[in-house]
Amino acid sequence: MKKQFAKIVVLTALLLFAFTITANFSYAADNKDNAQKKLFEQKCSQCHSLDEPRSQRNTKDGWTELVTRMRGNGCDLTNSEAAAIIDYLSKEFGK
Ligand code: HEC
Repeated sequence: MKKQFAKIVVLTALLLFAFTITANFSYAADNKDNAQKKLFEQKCSQCHSLDEPRSQRNTKDGWTELVTRMRGNGCDLTNSEAAAIIDYLSKEFGK
C-alpha cells in the first residue's frame, strides 16, 4: 500500500514537471514572436505605413532581399534585428 502511494506521488510530480516545462516552452515561443512583431512595428513604420509590407506575401528569400533594400533606403538595423524581422515576416506573411 505504501509503495503504491509513493508511485502515485512520483507520477504526479513527473506530470506536474512535464506540464511546467511545456507551458514554459510555449511561453518562451510567444515571447519571441511578440518581440519580433514589436521590432518589426517599430522599425518598419518609420518611413511609411506598415501596410506596405503587410500587403505583400513573400518567400524568405524575397523578404531577405526586401529588408536588405530597406537597409539601403536608410532603415537602421543590426544584422540580428534584420534576421528577427525577416523571420517574423516569413512566418506571418510567407508565400
Ligand atoms: C529609412 C526609411 C525606411 C525604413 C525605416 C523602411 N523603409 Fe520600406 N521603403 C522605404 C522607401 C524609400 C520605399 C520606396 C522605395 C523602395 O521601394 O525601395 C520603401 C518601400 C517599401 C515597400 C514597398 C516596395 C516594394 O518593393 O514592395 C515595402 C514592402 C517596404 N518598404 C517594407 C519595409 C520593411 C519590412 C521595413 C522594416 C524592415 C521598412 N520597409 C523600413 C523606406 C524605408
